[in-house]
Amino acid sequence: MEFVVIIADLYTYILFFVAFFDLQYHVLIAQALMSHYKLNPLTRWISHKNKSRYHGVLQLVGGSMVLLGALGKFSQKDVHLDTWHGRFGVAAAFGCAASVVGGLVNFFQPNLVVKVMPPSELRYRHNFYGILTFTLGMSAIFLGYSSRFFTRFVDNEFIPAMMLTTVLVYLLTIIGPVTSLLTKLKYRRQKRNST
Ligand code: HEM
Repeated sequence: MEFVVIIADLYTYILFFVAFFDLQYHVLIAQALMSHYKLNPLTRWISHKNKSRYHGVLQLVGGSMVLLGALGKFSQKDVHLDTWHGRFGVAAAFGCAASVVGGLVNFFQPNLVVKVMPPSELRYRHNFYGILTFTLGMSAIFLGYSSRFFTRFVDNEFIPAMMLTTVLVYLLTIIGPVTSLLTKLKYRRQKRNST
């Protein structure tokens, strides 16, 4: 009997941590991506440089969580590339590593890079690939809800609510970055037409 209670406790802990980290990941990455959004009440009072610092720190924490999770999965040998969740997850992990590097280059703008590519182009590309990476990551999370782990261990009536949360977080989060990308695209076109 005691054994059953221990197993049940362990099971509750695992589910708690899956739900907790899933929620934390959503909040962390969403807040990181919205830090430059002019309507964000947490960051609208601070300078652009400080918004970038806030964004960079949150992305480094969130990005490390993603990369550590992916490394753990790679070392288990059961990288389930036969599922769409696995494929999107691997693509998102590579995109995440590239976005962290791109973000650091954007922030520090080393002379070596700026000689090859102007800062406006660096910002445009980081913005574009950042949205792409976020889309891949959220798609992987969404597809993960139909995986065997979720359908076996999580109350099946709760899964649609988790799916809806992911979709809503995704849609609300990308408003700022997409608006910003469109402005950059307009500026880029004007610059091209004038040269
Ligand atoms: C997974 C990692 C990352 C992703 C997906 C990501 C994504 C994005 C996106 C979508 C934007 C545009 C936001 C907007 O204009 O509303 C942005 C801006 C920015 N990011 Fe990141 N980022 C990541 C990591 C980093 C890191 C580590 C830094 C380092 C500090 C950084 C520095 C910046 C800066 C300076 C901007 C502002 C660029 C501008 O002026 O338009 N990013 N990022």
